[in-house]
Amino acid sequence: MKKKLFAANWKLHKTPQETKNFFQSFSSVMKGYQNQFSNQMAETEVLICPPALCFGTASESLASESSALTNLEVNLGLQNVYCEPKGAFTGENSGDVAKAMGAKYILVGHSERRTLFHEANDLLNKKIKYLNSIHLKPVYCIGETLEQRDQGQTNSVLKKQIIEGLNGIAATADFSKNLVIAYEPVWAIGTGRVANVQQVAEAHSYIYQVLKELGFSDQVRIQYGGSVKPENAKELIQIPHVDGFLVGGASLEVESFAKIIFN
Ligand code: PGA
Repeated sequence: MKKKLFAANWKLHKTPQETKNFFQSFSSVMKGYQNQFSNQMAETEVLICPPALCFGTASESLASESSALTNLEVNLGLQNVYCEPKGAFTGENSGDVAKAMGAKYILVGHSERRTLFHEANDLLNKKIKYLNSIHLKPVYCIGETLEQRDQGQTNSVLKKQIIEGLNGIAATADFSKNLVIAYEPVWAIGTGRVANVQQVAEAHSYIYQVLKELGFSDQVRIQYGGSVKPENAKELIQIPHVDGFLVGGASLEVESFAKIIFN
């Protein structure tokens, strides 16, 4: 079964204390949801990606709350790692260390990394290869800018990002199962401007086709991200080939994140 994956990208928000508070309150809200959403919980996976310096606290907090979470799978990830496990790479984070500390997923190529830190597809490809070699699951973020959409380039941009990001990686059943593609139109991230149902449906079905042509199985999960909120989550999750969300702003508060997952 392909569980829906609801991921929280906290970006550079929250202190260790706020991280701890979040996990306490999240697990108590989930406890309250147990009866009503018990079936849905078994088909749902939650991923929290705190800032790297809060990862240790997140890991400890999750461990101490795990008994309250019973049949809900909750995992942790980092928002970025370097493509090498160690070495003279000042300021970077190691995927091997993240894994040793309990990370299961790593975001790769978020649009803020692409834009602000100039990460290009060839570097992202190295990161995905490295993550694959150590069995961490990549959440590979792709998406077009508004200008590209207006010029009718959405599909070609998405295809290029997929082909270059996954270049040279064998489309094995295991890799397909571990791979997550997050479709995040750049113009919808943090803007309050969500892509409409037709735009999301078209992009997700196109991404699904491209992955299929490249030989990946339908176990790859394709998330939508960009201004997801409790008010639009219900409509978006019903779109074919939408296998979950990558949520920024609305994942910072337990109440809104919980309502996005279970509604
Ligand atoms: P947003 O961010 O939900 O605040 O638009 C999404 C993301 O950046 O992953």
